[in-house]
Amino acid sequence: MNTRSHFICKFLRAFVAVTITIGSVTVSPQAVAPLSRPAIVDPLNDPAIEARVSSLLRQMTLEEKLGQLNQFSGGAPTGPSTGRTDYRQMIAAGQIGSLLNVTGAKETNELQRIAMTRSRLKIPILFGLDVIHGYRTTFPVPLGLASTWNPDIVEKAAAVAAREAAAEGVRWTFSPMVDIARDARWGRIVEGAGEDPFLGSLMAVAYVRGYQGARLDHPFSIAACAKHYVGYGAAEGGRDYNTTEIPERLLRDVYLPPFRAAVDAGAATLMSAFNAVNGVPASANPFTLDQVLRREWGFRGFVVSDWTSVKEMIPHGIANEGATAARKALLAGVDMDMEGGLYLNDLAAEVKGGRVPMKVVDEAVRRILRVKFALGLFERPYVEESAGGKGLDPAHIELARTAAEESFVLLKNDARSGQPPLLPLSAGVRTVALIGPLADSVGDMRGAWAAKGDRKDVITLRVALEDFAAKRQMQLLHAKGAEIVGGSDAGMATAVDVARRADVVLLALGEDAGEMTAEATSRAFITLPGLQEKLLEAVAATGKPIVLVVFSGRPLALTSVVDRVGAIVQAWHPGIQAGPALVRVLSGEANFSGRLTVTMPRSVGQLPLYYNHLNTGRPAGKVDLTRPPTRGEEKYVSRYIDEQNAPLFPFGHGLSYTRFEYSPLTLSAQSLSARALNSGSLALRVTVEVKNVGGRDGVEVAQLYIRQRGTSVARPVRELKGFQRIALRAGESRRVEFTLGEKELAFWNIDMKEVVEPAAVTVWVGPNSQSGSYGEFTITR
Ligand code: NOJ
Repeated sequence: MNTRSHFICKFLRAFVAVTITIGSVTVSPQAVAPLSRPAIVDPLNDPAIEARVSSLLRQMTLEEKLGQLNQFSGGAPTGPSTGRTDYRQMIAAGQIGSLLNVTGAKETNELQRIAMTRSRLKIPILFGLDVIHGYRTTFPVPLGLASTWNPDIVEKAAAVAAREAAAEGVRWTFSPMVDIARDARWGRIVEGAGEDPFLGSLMAVAYVRGYQGARLDHPFSIAACAKHYVGYGAAEGGRDYNTTEIPERLLRDVYLPPFRAAVDAGAATLMSAFNAVNGVPASANPFTLDQVLRREWGFRGFVVSDWTSVKEMIPHGIANEGATAARKALLAGVDMDMEGGLYLNDLAAEVKGGRVPMKVVDEAVRRILRVKFALGLFERPYVEESAGGKGLDPAHIELARTAAEESFVLLKNDARSGQPPLLPLSAGVRTVALIGPLADSVGDMRGAWAAKGDRKDVITLRVALEDFAAKRQMQLLHAKGAEIVGGSDAGMATAVDVARRADVVLLALGEDAGEMTAEATSRAFITLPGLQEKLLEAVAATGKPIVLVVFSGRPLALTSVVDRVGAIVQAWHPGIQAGPALVRVLSGEANFSGRLTVTMPRSVGQLPLYYNHLNTGRPAGKVDLTRPPTRGEEKYVSRYIDEQNAPLFPFGHGLSYTRFEYSPLTLSAQSLSARALNSGSLALRVTVEVKNVGGRDGVEVAQLYIRQRGTSVARPVRELKGFQRIALRAGESRRVEFTLGEKELAFWNIDMKEVVEPAAVTVWVGPNSQSGSYGEFTITR
């Protein structure tokens, strides 16, 4: 699709159309707070707003302009603190355009009042916050939300977050994080949707629509911020803030698409990343910020730097002092300086010295004011103070529970000799032992970046299980056993004793949300931390059946424990309804429907590991990789001598209490012409019948993958190009249809053009990235 048609689509998708379709998934319009006035113009491209911006700009001094480009943290710092506290005077002097980390209606109103009454031009402050997976109502962490494969529920969760944040004056969230992450060492993998650009794009759109609603100026809407632009997830060695080397084709094929999807959905802002991309820091990168974002995609919102990332041009080594750092970042296209203070302090001299044209400053100010007008901040700068302090809305709690339920991934649930699988817990279970440091850990259930989430809203697995046990007349025994990290093995004996007295053991293990996930939490070892593996071994030695529930912000390497337990549930950090949601799936009241959006490695040495890799010239093929190479012909293939290539659990994997079968595929054609595909006038229909052949109702996520061969550049062994969540009653079957057209089949070819090329294409539809029914078709000239 060319830039112009993309732009028209953007307009239609965000403001007129009631549904948006990417590939084969339809995302419904904002489900919470239906809005009555139909929007007729894109607020970022509204002549009336432009006229107001122009008129205001004409009245502004250079200092006032630079003030609009300046953002400080007015609350608990979320980065290295400057210790600054004088922002009240600065607001009055017109030196602050935005504050982050200020929360509470009273607090935002108070500061806003300074801007609206004491500053010369009365330009409202835009308050921003990391509202990442809920504001007061804490939903599962984003990686968990992505594991629902349900953009609709993500959109609803984002809409709830927007409503709660906006009620307290926070009209801008630094979300969604749409960084593709292929390396589980990187702690921030928890904040995104995982490793896949197709799924990541759908999730990006869902968040933007949820936050921004049908109109940005609706009192319940907040501006989205797609971050971290760009390539941040490709940090070398998985070490946070580290350098990235991303060839342009990979950038365009994998890392840019979720940002483009967010921009096309109308995202009002983007955040530039900390990392260098191919030697040029992302926060001063003219190629990504100007060429791609503004010129190719036509983005009209504004770009905020990450926390002091403008200043970090100096340690990066592309500036020797603040003035150069500020100049390079602004000229490249970063409009607002978060926390660094350089735009405020250094740009005036740059402008006066002729090194920065005034029109560049004006353009940055225009973009920021445009968003402020679009949000209706000039008309409604304050919020209702009495609205705060209320308890959680029951509808929001229920949504948090459903989202958590859908985010859980049943990784393993083996049938035992002559007996059914461990899960769901059978009615015959009289005594359950709940063991582990995550069983009753309120803080960890909330996950990283819990915004205004309140500890007292959290129901842990222990609390919910106690309730369940009382109703079922089941006995629940509990022992912590070990700390998440560190501690002694003093608690192990009690844990083992408790396990001995039970019919089944539930082991709640995993990562500390605050210390081990999100920013600055990269891990070189990604097994269960501390003494937890030892605890598991001790409990397993009792011979009791074990269900392992893993609470983590990344896919852990569970290789050494996988065979010691009968079932594994990947629960992420599930939010306030962790306990009730888990009890429902463990007991079988609800079924599992989550699927992995990240590949689970066997060991850290396999990283980076992702399903959509290239084949190489020497693929391992049918070579048995479970043992070291012995014969000559096995040696010269792409493999490790001491580890398999295959992951422990593949992308897309997730079990259910029922089973689904796929019929052979039907393709609407065997051959299609590239020319017709490129003109957008043709698409292939792929049809399959999915049947629930098990004994229970369930939800299947039918996933469509392709592989193209014979193209000008090598294409991945598989690429996700469609999926559908389908609820099927026991015995029920449904015909599922996907389409493959230009959008799904085009890629960045050898001439760096995004086109469909002649190719031999294999298509699979199935339950994960390693299996499925398949067919073949050809793309001719
Ligand atoms: C730094 C983080 O990288 C970014 O994601 C966040 O939005 C800002 N700090 C503000 O807290």
